[in-house]
Amino acid sequence: MATPADGFPRIDGALLGWRVERALAWRTTLGLPGPEHAYRLLHHAGDGLPGFTCDVLGRWAVLYAYAPALLPVARLLAEAVRGFAKLAGVVVKVRARGGAAEVTQEVIGEAPPERHVALESGVPFEIHAMGGLNVGLFTDMREHRLALARHAPGRTVLNLFSYTGALSLACARAGAQRVTSVDTSEGVQAWARGNFARSNLTDAARWRFETGDAVRFLARADKTRERYDLVLIDPPTFSTARGKPWTLDRDYPELIAQAAAVIPEGGLLWLAANTHELGSLAKLAQRGLRGRGAVIDQGGLPPDYPTVAAQPRDRYLQVLSIKL
Ligand SMILES: C[S@@+](CC[C@H](N)C(=O)[O-])C[C@H]1O[C@@H](n2cnc3c(N)ncnc32)[C@H](O)[C@@H]1O
Repeated sequence: MATPADGFPRIDGALLGWRVERALAWRTTLGLPGPEHAYRLLHHAGDGLPGFTCDVLGRWAVLYAYAPALLPVARLLAEAVRGFAKLAGVVVKVRARGGAAEVTQEVIGEAPPERHVALESGVPFEIHAMGGLNVGLFTDMREHRLALARHAPGRTVLNLFSYTGALSLACARAGAQRVTSVDTSEGVQAWARGNFARSNLTDAARWRFETGDAVRFLARADKTRERYDLVLIDPPTFSTARGKPWTLDRDYPELIAQAAAVIPEGGLLWLAANTHELGSLAKLAQRGLRGRGAVIDQGGLPPDYPTVAAQPRDRYLQVLSIKL
């Protein structure tokens, strides 16, 4: 974290403040900060802060420390973030080995309300800053949401693993004819409906929210001959929602095959995966599509997620668009 070239003799508030100032300057160059705006302010070693990430989400930020021993440094870092980014408060979440179940958190500055709103590309999203590990918006998808707007107008869209509906909302706001969002969690479906309502999208016949398993949904859709022009799949890397564990490597190709079956010729399949092995999503797609379709776009992390060139595995996000 500290290098002799920086001229700081120890890891303290002065060094951390310098890091935050530089990180904020980069996001300002990108045009990201603004009243209520959502963006990633700090991203691990790419910002000279290995072990830490921080998302600014409106008037509050959420700062993640990736080991309990980092908490004292995280507190200093949160003070610096609050000061430089002029925020009401910063929620510090400490991630332990156990993942989502083992998050501990504390607040530096003013505590956030149970729900507050942050804007991404002018779109309001409800944030639950004191909720669990995830607070309602994955900032790494911002540019992909913008890019989807080009393909959504007039289309019928199916979004699997839809979480709080951010990708669905991008399509709906861009003029999709209908959007169906599928997620196993009743809670996130209510949250997604709330996000749609904040964009004045309340027509239940056009904006459908199906609570249930994505694989079962696709099987039923195929049986009843439902068709979708654009299918989005952004699955968790690992899930036990159906009783038995679901893993990307083993189960994604079959899911891709199932999704392709409900897309007519000329439709689009949009795939995302949290995997750092270069080209691996394309390989999974190839296994699922068995020669059908052409890749029209490929992407990854946005520029507010800088990584160190010597650590290519840190670029964990892959997104692939395929025209069928
Ligand atoms: C990584 S998040 C998806 C992020 C989302 N696409 C976005 O851009 O905000 C994973 C979501 O998948 C849901 N999920 C997990 N297993 C599922 C399953 N078998 N079927 C449908 N949804 C599932 C979880 O409830 C969670 O909301």
